[in-house]
Order: sequence, then structure tokens, then C-alpha cells
Amino acid sequence: MTNSYILKKSVKSLPLNWYYDLKQYEKEVGKVWKSEWFYACHEDNLKEPLSYLTLQVSNFNILILRDKKGLVSAYLNTCRHRGSILCKEKEGKLKTNLLVCPYHQWSYNASDGSLVKTSSIITPKNFKKSKRGLIKVKMKIWNGLIFLNFNNKKKWNSKKVFVDYSSAFEKLKVQHYKVGHVWKKTINCNWKIFWENYSECLHCPNLHPELSDLVPIYGRRLVDVKDDPQWKELIKEPHPKYQGGLRKGSETWSTDGSAQGHKTKYLEDKKNFPGYIYMTTWPSMFLAIFTDHIRLVRVLPLSSETTEIMSEWLFQPKTIKDSKYNKKKVVDFAVMVMQQDSDACELNQKGVHNPIEQPGVLMPEEYEVKKFHDWIKKRI
Ligand code: FES
Ligand SMILES: [Fe+2]
Repeated sequence: MTNSYILKKSVKSLPLNWYYDLKQYEKEVGKVWKSEWFYACHEDNLKEPLSYLTLQVSNFNILILRDKKGLVSAYLNTCRHRGSILCKEKEGKLKTNLLVCPYHQWSYNASDGSLVKTSSIITPKNFKKSKRGLIKVKMKIWNGLIFLNFNNKKKWNSKKVFVDYSSAFEKLKVQHYKVGHVWKKTINCNWKIFWENYSECLHCPNLHPELSDLVPIYGRRLVDVKDDPQWKELIKEPHPKYQGGLRKGSETWSTDGSAQGHKTKYLEDKKNFPGYIYMTTWPSMFLAIFTDHIRLVRVLPLSSETTEIMSEWLFQPKTIKDSKYNKKKVVDFAVMVMQQDSDACELNQKGVHNPIEQPGVLMPEEYEVKKFHDWIKKRI
């Protein structure tokens, strides 16, 4: 059993009411979502000056925009007059460098959020315009990825923000990548159910037959070579079922295993590159690096029992410009897998309401689920 990752004992899962109880949900919003860094999107989603997008995190709404000079900033999407939402649309483009409230038309400078003008007939002496600017949300743009934090005091540390930080990522210069496709879905489940599903492969052979064929070790309900107590013996077997990595002859996660567009030289030259590298940042995002693209999946709670996922496919600029580039194979494959996982999450959510006092249980392969539970428990 030495050096195997798996749990040696079964351990309690979380209480079932943690997946729907409103008090528990509010606690998690306060202690997790209002205090941890969460992912918004790749900068390339704001392609031109004056473009903006809005983001829903539970009951909070955030506005991210690129001003006329190209600088990106994030604000709470609320007018400082009487609290109307400022930008109603999910995304759009401002006509000028001003944000105008749709209610009584106060206007704000898009570059710094300062209040430019009210619509009142006079300005009372005791009214301080300087105190009525938009509220900034702390932001960090890391390699082109926009991260936000409701807690202004939080410092950024990429090695701590990611639970499984890989230095390979910083070599790729992802700030130059382009967003080739975006896909969104609302799943009827608590946000933690999404992460639990993501963290294990016990469900892989029955729910992801195509993925288990492409990544043979998943077909054994394992995610890592070291999940098998006998791994030191089995690693001598040449089959990817024991070695990890992709099915022979496959290059990426796509419907037929073929890569699309241009491959990344750094990854191709990398010793022992298994065909994919994952990086995870709880509570909001994981990304998967493939030789021809990067896929990011953002996870945001909308309510105690609904979660929005958003996936972005990033490609190198030369791939996007290539007339032979066909993103369909990589997009279709990942959407199929995400759809299968979403269905599983909804099944899970449907079962948690029954009056069962005892929590569920985690089995040996679910060590990553335990790690996630420990992470949550430490914060609430
Ligand atoms: S609430 Fe925005 S101008 Fe009145
Ligand atoms: Fe899955």
C-alpha cells in the first residue's frame, strides 16, 4: 500500500442537508465565496475597449469592463443612488466611456468608477460626489485569466490559489491565447456536488464510456496510476490503463482523439507529458491543458440548489487564424462529458432531501473529495 493515494479507511461524507439547507448555504457564501479568489473569465472575452460583461455569484452581481484605453476593472454592478442594477445585460459595449444608470441616469466614469453627474436640479452642499463612486471589486489578472475577490484584503498567490499548481501553465503564455468557444449551463445541484463529481472517477466507466475509452485508466474507475495499491508492479505494464495518459494514437480530448490546429511545442517536448494536465482552484474553476487547446470550467453558485458552469476553449492565435482549424471535435467531446457529469450531479441532488440523519460515505478512491471537504470545513 506504500505511496498509494487512496484512503485506507472509509470516511464520513458531508451531512446531506449541507446540499440544500439555506443557513448552510449562506454560511458558505459568506465564508467561502465572499472571501476566496474566484475566476471570472479570460481577458479575451472583453475583446475591444468599452466592452463589458456581468457575472452572477449567488445574489451578487459584478460588472467587468474594459475602458476606452483598454484597462480592465471590476465593480459591484449597483448604482450608488438607490441601488439599481447598472448594467442589465450579460454582456455588451458602452457607447462612451460612461456608465449610465438606467433608473435616474446617474453617470459614472468607466475608467475609475467615479460619479460624473447626478440628474438632480441642484447639488446639495452636503452631497459628496467623491463618496458616491462605484464600489471596486478586487481583481487579479494572472496570465490573462481574470480573478476576483470580494475581500479587498486578500493577497494573490498563484501557488496557494491553485490546489494543484503546475509550473507548466506559466510557460504557455495563456494571456496571448484566444477564446475559440464558450458554453454555459445551469445545473440543478448544489455547487459542492459539482466539485465532488469532478474529484472522482468511480462513475467514469458507466457514465463516461467515450471518455473511459480515450483515457483508459478512467475505465478502471481511477484517476491516477498511484490509486492502485499495486501500482509499483502495474506501472511496468505498457498499456495506458496502467500507465495513465491517452489511448494509443490519440493526441487530445476530442471525438476521435485527433488534435485541432497547432500543437504546443513546449508540451510536445515535455518529458512524460500524459496528454493532459489539470489545475484546480476551489471554489470556482478547473482548467485542463491539452497539446492543442486549454479548456477552463468556471463554477458559480446561483442558489443553494442551482449552479452555473461556463466552459471556455482557448486556442493559440495561429490556430484561430488557420483556415483548416475545426474546433468542433474538441468542443463536442467536452460538452458531451460535461453534459454527462451535469446529469449525474442532478441525480445526486435529487436524492439528498430524504430524511436520512446519517451522512454519506467516502470510499478509498474518493480521496480528492475528502480533500475538498476538508478545505470547506476549514473555512466554515
Ligand atoms: S438608482 Fe441609479 S440613478 Fe437612481
Ligand atoms: Fe465525470
